[in-house]
Order: sequence, then structure tokens, then C-alpha cells
Amino acid sequence: MTDLQLREILATAARNNAKHKVTGMLIYAGGSFMQTLEGEASTVDKTFADIAKDPRHHSIVLLLRDQITERHFLHWHMGFRRLGPVDALQCPSYAPFFAKGFNALTIGAIPGLALEMLRDFAVMQRD
Ligand SMILES: Cc1cc2nc3c(=O)[nH]c(=O)nc-3n(C[C@H](O)[C@H](O)[C@H](O)COP(=O)(O)O)c2cc1C
Repeated sequence: MTDLQLREILATAARNNAKHKVTGMLIYAGGSFMQTLEGEASTVDKTFADIAKDPRHHSIVLLLRDQITERHFLHWHMGFRRLGPVDALQCPSYAPFFAKGFNALTIGAIPGLALEMLRDFAVMQRD
């Protein structure tokens, strides 16, 4: 994906998510995305269904659908970070999980890892 293509996705996401009170974080590495969405269950399900239909990506895996008592991404209608070699140096413990793109089986096998990565990169993005 080019930066322009990514910017287009984010602009749509930020616009729609603000309207529907959805918050979350999207990270991109090695041609793959990992994303979290939070909000009212029915709204999140509808947003996920819309995203799943989008031809700009494929092979979508839902890692976790859970109830939460408070939002983790309150400040982001859709935070974003494109991960690269600098992030691998800064976050060596996460590097194996994104250096060649996200692998849903590997990441999903470690409980909490996906959310932890998304939260940490969201905070770094904000600082
Ligand atoms: C990786 C990825 C993540 C996306 N995330 C969101 C999102 O969080 N919210 C959203 O509304 N659309 C998101 N989109 C865009 C949707 O797939 C779809 O284009 C959008 O819901 C259409 O909205 P529109 O009818 O207002 O143009 C994403 C698309 C991709 C490829």
C-alpha cells in the first residue's frame, strides 16, 4: 500500500468512526494490517462487516470479540502507525511479530499480545 492509499483508508475510518463513536487503532507492516475497534457492540459489528467487504484487503482473521468496561483507545477514532525497521529496533520484543507482516496464527496463540501491541503503538504514536 502506498502512503496515499493508507491515508485514504484512514480518512474514511476517522470520518465514519467519529460519526459512530467508534475508537481504535490500526497498524500496518509487511503488507498486512492489524486493527482493533471499540464501541457499541452492534456498531462495531457493522463496522467490522463493512471493513471485511473492502476489496483493498483479504484473508481477514477475527482474533478476539470481547466485552469491555472501558475503552483503551479513547483518544483515537482510528490511530495509525506504519511499522518499519525503526520500530523493530525500538520494540525488539514485538519485532518478530511484525517484521514479515502480521501472522494471525502466531499472534493469536499468545493471549493479549495483539491488544498489547496495538495499545503500545497507539501510545507511542501519540507521544
Ligand atoms: C485495513 C482497513 C481498515 C479500515 N478501517 C475502517 C474503520 O475503522 N472504519 C471505517 O468506517 N472504515 C474502515 N475502512 C474502510 C471500510 O472498509 C469502507 O471503505 C468504509 O466503511 C466505507 O465507508 P463510506 O461508505 O463512508 O465510503 C477500513 C478499510 C481497510 C482496508
